Amino acid sequence: MSTISGFSPESRIENRKKVTTKQFQQKKERGEPISMLTAYDYPTSLVMDRVGVDSILVGDSLGMVVLGYENTLRVTMEEMLHHCRAVARGARYALLIGDMPFMTYQVSVEEAVKNAGRFLQEAGMDAVKLEGGRERTRSIQAIISAGIPVAGHIGLTPQSVNVFGGFRAQGKTATAAKRLYEDALLLQEAGCFCIVLEAVPARLAELISHRLEIPTIGIGAGGGCDGQVLVTHDLLGLFDRFTPKFVRKYADFFGEMENAFSGFISDVETRNFPTAEHSIDMPEDEWQLLLEDIGE
Ligand code: KIV
Repeated sequence: MSTISGFSPESRIENRKKVTTKQFQQKKERGEPISMLTAYDYPTSLVMDRVGVDSILVGDSLGMVVLGYENTLRVTMEEMLHHCRAVARGARYALLIGDMPFMTYQVSVEEAVKNAGRFLQEAGMDAVKLEGGRERTRSIQAIISAGIPVAGHIGLTPQSVNVFGGFRAQGKTATAAKRLYEDALLLQEAGCFCIVLEAVPARLAELISHRLEIPTIGIGAGGGCDGQVLVTHDLLGLFDRFTPKFVRKYADFFGEMENAFSGFISDVETRNFPTAEHSIDMPEDEWQLLLEDIGE
């Protein structure tokens, strides 16, 4: 199958090589969009890797969409590492990024480096992501010096939900936008290989993407970013609490699961499941021997 531009969807997965941070940079230079999705388990990462996503982020959104917490603040290192390991077992090619949870990189540079290292050493990740701008540059530099690639994340940074007073778009005034622009430049200078821009005005994200040499990955930041990321449970329609305005739903998995589970309950109640095709038989002669033996 080919398209008008000559690009075939299959070419994405033919002759695939492991995606590295260098390929992120090359994609930006070639003007090729970067695709990133979140995953938290083995089967999801297996499917994503098979269809050719560039990068899988094990986001701390785990806390909300999988673990049922109200926000991301309660997510621990152990929870993140547990899910990162599962994702790493499913993906061969995608660049794997582990999201550093709240309070694992804010207290000291030493703790930040140590915790970042655990994502690579114990959980098979290729890089880490952490939230924040200028206040994080020392930690970012130290993590990179230890040989760990870092993705930045500015705009609506969910770990600061209590400072923002809710999940609100950021950078909507000239002053706030300038601060975000400066933060993006500082993160690039600190050595980040990419920056996630979350819930910021599209034209600001486009301007930042244009001014930066490293790629930007947008979520709710319009089409002018160098790549796009979505929380997988949002795009699958699997998170029932709310769907942000910037999400495109590609499926209704919540509805599909409701149908499947109701079908099972109903089949059990009406004795429509299991049938012979789902049952295990035993040879007739062995059966007769048993009946004779127990006097049935
Ligand atoms: O935790 C997460 O899933 C994220 C994305 C929203 C970028 O940080």
